[in-house]
Amino acid sequence: ARIRHYKWEAKYEYKSPDCFKKLVITINGRSPGPTILAQQGDTIIVELKNSLITENVAIHWHGIRQIGSPWFDGTEGVTQCPIQPGETFKYQFMVDRPGTYLYHAHYGMQRDAGLYGSIRVALPDGQLEPFAYDYDRSILLNDWYHKSTHELSTGLSSKNFTWVGEPQSLLIQGKGKFNCSSLSSPSPSDPDLCNPSNPECSPYLLTVIPGKTYRLRVSSLTSLSALSFQIEGHNMTVVEADGHYVEPFVVKNLFIYSGETYSVLIKTDQNPTRNYWIQTSIVSRPSNTTGVAILNYYPNHPKRTPPTPQPQGPKWDDVDPRLAQSLSIKARKGLGRAPPQTSDRVIVMLNTQNTVDGFRRWSINNVSLNHPKTPYLISLKHNLTDQFDQNPPPDGYDFAKYDIYVKHNYSNATTSSGIYRLKFNTTVDIILQNANTMNPHNSETHPWHLHGHDFWVLGYGLGKFDIYKDPKKYNLADPIEKNTVPVHPYGWTALRFVADNPGAWAFHCHIESHFYMGMGVVFEEGIERVGRLPSSILGCGASKGLRVP
Ligand code: C2O
Ligand code: CU
Repeated sequence: ARIRHYKWEAKYEYKSPDCFKKLVITINGRSPGPTILAQQGDTIIVELKNSLITENVAIHWHGIRQIGSPWFDGTEGVTQCPIQPGETFKYQFMVDRPGTYLYHAHYGMQRDAGLYGSIRVALPDGQLEPFAYDYDRSILLNDWYHKSTHELSTGLSSKNFTWVGEPQSLLIQGKGKFNCSSLSSPSPSDPDLCNPSNPECSPYLLTVIPGKTYRLRVSSLTSLSALSFQIEGHNMTVVEADGHYVEPFVVKNLFIYSGETYSVLIKTDQNPTRNYWIQTSIVSRPSNTTGVAILNYYPNHPKRTPPTPQPQGPKWDDVDPRLAQSLSIKARKGLGRAPPQTSDRVIVMLNTQNTVDGFRRWSINNVSLNHPKTPYLISLKHNLTDQFDQNPPPDGYDFAKYDIYVKHNYSNATTSSGIYRLKFNTTVDIILQNANTMNPHNSETHPWHLHGHDFWVLGYGLGKFDIYKDPKKYNLADPIEKNTVPVHPYGWTALRFVADNPGAWAFHCHIESHFYMGMGVVFEEGIERVGRLPSSILGCGASKGLRVP
């Protein structure tokens, strides 16, 4: 195993990823930031300098469990104080499993500003994946807003609520194409404000050699959108999900939710005299924005436009094919870890949208998360019991009375900083229950992401979860392990994990604005086993005096 040492600088720069110029947070001048390439067992050290001038920052290593290093999870307010302008913070952690992972800002809604990238962990030398391929490529998907993260978040957290709306474009590997002529007020003083011939927004090119097999690591860090990803004329065989081997299955289009990573295999076995469209489109929300890249068959000219029209995406409001894909993801035969067959605790989490004290919020069992000034890990470790609400949120909701299909006009939701305390090494089941939003006949897709663990996905269903009948249908034989999973509109998703990683861990909707509006919870387990906290994570809230220079 090796030590991989990175020196990164985060700063604001003008970039035009979709031809529209805006301030973007770059790492060493790039967005997406540099890819971390490592081998299983390596130690990653990232020295991050915050050059944002007036803004704090923190980076989360998405999918890395941080076993023994819970303080380097990078979640502001949960595991560390924010890194202040001018400061350099050193993250150090081990990548203990092969697979495809991500990193991104975890401070306010800063991920929207472009601070994100991929982590690719290979097997140690001499070990082989359970599938063969000739080349390995990463494709990071995103959606993109023209407003600043400050404008977006201010709108969400004002009494005069302003929704972020649909994204202006979709990015593939950091590149998109906004239609500049649709700008209502082009700025005559700045011809570069939206310039369709800016090379920064030329489509991403995936150049391939005919007759080969490519492993494509497709991941999504969208702010809002659920996506369908497809490559014209090429089937994809899904072989990996969130760092776990999948029993292979073939799709024409891959549904992918924010925070998920997949590896798919494609064969470059189509007519080699032309290029093909790579495309993303939005599902689950009514938007016809698409993202486009080019599959360039060598030696065709990369700029040669495919001769066919761009493929159609699936119907945006058709839940069935998305549920079907969720259900087809199983652990690869012989390579999955079996889940414990029973659990010690079941927490049902009703996902609702509410108004709390005049603010629009998302709540879990009527509690909307408000995280405190002092990060939980520090308050817990140092017994600062006055730093957050000591009352835990409820383990369920009133099943019998709550109709998930209607818009509820009343609301007894509250905000709280309370957390779930899990007994160390116990097995916990989480049932995510979706419901109607505050709009009539509307239920959204929420991708839930757990820090510090993988969970087994035991089942999905539509309608109200039945605590007696549905557990009988759980897949306890070959469930996939993941760290991010969707709960479909009006549906439920059942997860199981073992609380065996001492620390404080966020579990939240990966839609940036939903988490910002309180759609998350925090778990604590084994806090007494957490070692001495590094001084670098201290310094904010009640931890000011704890920091030793
Ligand atoms: Cu990738 Cu807490 O998120
Ligand atoms: Cu959500």
